[in-house]
Amino acid sequence: MKLLPWLAAFLSSTIATSSQVPLAEDHPHSNFTIYRSNVSPDHSIRIKRQNATLCNTPVDQYTGWLDVGHHHFFFWYFKSENAASADDHSSSEPLALWLTGGPGGSSMLGMLQELGPCLINDYGNGTDYNPYGWNKETALIFVDQPAGVGFSYLDEGEPLPGDSFTSAADMHLFLQLFISQVFPEHENGPNPINAFQGHYLPALGVQIISQNALHPKQPQVPLKSLAIGNGYVSPLDTAFGYWETLCTTNPGVKEPIFNSTRCDIMATNLPRCLDVSKACYDHPDPAICQAASTVCWDGVIKYYDGESYAGGRNRFDITAPCDIDDFCYANTALIQTYLNLPSSFTSLSVPKTIKNYTVLSEAVESAFERTNDLGISLIPAVAYLLENQIDVLIYQGNLDLACGVYGEGVEGMGEWGRKVGTAKEVNVRMREGDEKKTRFALVTIDGSGHMVPQDQPEVALDMLNRWLAGKAFN
Ligand SMILES: *[C@@H]1O[C@H](CO)[C@@H](O)[C@H](O)[C@H]1NC(C)=O
Ligand SMILES: *[C@@H]1O[C@H](CO)[C@@H](O)[C@H](O)[C@H]1NC(C)=O
Ligand SMILES: *[C@@H]1O[C@H](CO)[C@@H](O)[C@H](O)[C@H]1NC(C)=O
Ligand SMILES: *[C@@H]1O[C@H](CO)[C@@H](O)[C@H](O)[C@H]1NC(C)=O
Ligand SMILES: *[C@@H]1O[C@H](CO)[C@@H](O)[C@H](O)[C@H]1NC(C)=O
Repeated sequence: MKLLPWLAAFLSSTIATSSQVPLAEDHPHSNFTIYRSNVSPDHSIRIKRQNATLCNTPVDQYTGWLDVGHHHFFFWYFKSENAASADDHSSSEPLALWLTGGPGGSSMLGMLQELGPCLINDYGNGTDYNPYGWNKETALIFVDQPAGVGFSYLDEGEPLPGDSFTSAADMHLFLQLFISQVFPEHENGPNPINAFQGHYLPALGVQIISQNALHPKQPQVPLKSLAIGNGYVSPLDTAFGYWETLCTTNPGVKEPIFNSTRCDIMATNLPRCLDVSKACYDHPDPAICQAASTVCWDGVIKYYDGESYAGGRNRFDITAPCDIDDFCYANTALIQTYLNLPSSFTSLSVPKTIKNYTVLSEAVESAFERTNDLGISLIPAVAYLLENQIDVLIYQGNLDLACGVYGEGVEGMGEWGRKVGTAKEVNVRMREGDEKKTRFALVTIDGSGHMVPQDQPEVALDMLNRWLAGKAFN
C-alpha cells in the first residue's frame, strides 16, 4: 500500500532578538563555520558558503547541517535576489522555508525541480538559473527533514521519526538557532515565511507558537504565515477528491478520467472509506488509522495510484504521462544523479556516514505508516494557527490528485488578461482590538498538477509575491 501525500507549504514570521556575532570556529577539513546554540549546548549549526558552480544563481548561498543531539539536518540557504542587489543591509530580510512532503521526500525536490534559484539541467550534471525562483523578494531555505531524509541523518541506532510532531520540535530548534545566531538579519524580519508539507507545516506552526509562549526569554521564531501547497491536511477530503477529480469534469477536463463502471465501484466504496477515516479522526489510535488507510486504498485510491508507474498514470497530474516509477517526472531521477556526483559530495562536504543520496527515504515513509500520522486531520491545527493570527494560504494545482481538495471559488485570478486560477479568501480580526486582520486564502491554479511552480512557474511566483506583500490575488 502506498499513499504518498505530497505536500508543501510555508510559514512566515516576525520577531526580534540580538546577539549579532555568535561564537564561530573553523573546522579545519571542510571549511565549516560552527555556531553553537546559546540556548542549548546540544545544538549547533555547521555552515559553509557555496558558489554558482553547484547551484547556478548570482545570490550568496550556504549549505550545512544542524546538529540537534543525535539528529542532523541538511539545509541549503539562499539570499534574496532583490534584497541582495540593494546596498541597504540594515533592514531585516524576510525568510521563507521550504519543506517537501512525502513523508520521506527530500526538499531538494522542491529546490531543483520546482522553485529553487536553480533547477536541475537536462543531463543531471549541473543546474540552470531559474528566472522564477522563489527567492526574488525573500531569502529561501530548504531543509531535508525529518532526520533520515535526503542528506539528513541520524546517529547509529537512533529510531527514525515517525510523526510530524517529533520533526516539528527539531525544526523549531533549527529555526531558533538559525535566525538568532547564524543570520540574525531574519530575526526582525517583517515577513519571514517557510515552506513545508501540509502535514508538517501545521504541526510546526503549533510548535513554534507554543514554544514562543512557553519560553519568552529565548529567541522567538517570528512566524507570520504559512502556505500549504497541495497539502495532505485532511485525508478524508483527499479520498473524496479522488472520486470527484476522476469521475467528474470538475477539475477542468473535457471527459472524466474514469468510465462509469469504475466510478460506480468507487462511489459504492467511498462512504465506508469516509466513515473509517472519520473514526481515525475521532480516535486516532494507529490501529484505527491504519485500517482507515487500508479501506480507502482498497476501495478508492488504488484504482488510480495502483496504476501509477512508468508508462502508467501520473499521480501528480491526471493529464500527464508517467515517465519513471514513483515520481513520474524524469528530472526527479536527474536530481538524484546530480547530487550523487563525487563533485557534489565534495562541495557539500557530505559526511562519510551518507553513502548514497536518495530523493525519497522509504525508511522514513514506512516509519510514518506505522503511526497514526497519515490518518489524522490537521484541520484543528490550522484553526489554532488562525486563532493565533497566523495567515494561512492553501494552494493547489487543479489537475493534482495526490493532495487535491476542490473548492468552489470562481473569481478570476491575477492581472493576466486571462483566467489563471481561482482564489477565495477571508480576512478577519481574530481577537477584540486586533490591529491586524488574519488572512485565510484558498488558491487553485489552472493547468497545473501537484508541482505548481514546475507547471506554472510565472503564475506561482506571482502568487507567492502577492501573498508575501499582502496583496489581493485578483
Ligand atoms: C577553505 O577556504 C579557504 C578560503 O576561503 C580556501 O582557500 C580553501 O581552499 C578552502 N578549503 C577547502 C577544503 O575547501
Ligand atoms: C553535461 O553533459 C552535457 C552532455 O553530455 C555536456 O555537453 C556538458 O558539457 C556537461 N556539463 C557539465 C557541467 O559537465
Ligand atoms: C472501464 O475502465 C477500466 C479501467 O480502465 C477497464 O478495465 C474497463 O474495461 C472499462 N469498462 C468499460 C465498460 O469501458
Ligand atoms: C566554487 O567552489 C568550488 C568548490 O566547491 C571550487 O572548486 C570552484 O573553483 C569555485 N568556483 C568559483 C567560480 O569560485
Ligand atoms: C542509491 O540508491 C538508489 C535508490 O535506492 C539506487 O537505485 C542506487 O543503486 C544506489 N546507488 C548506490 C551507489 O548505492
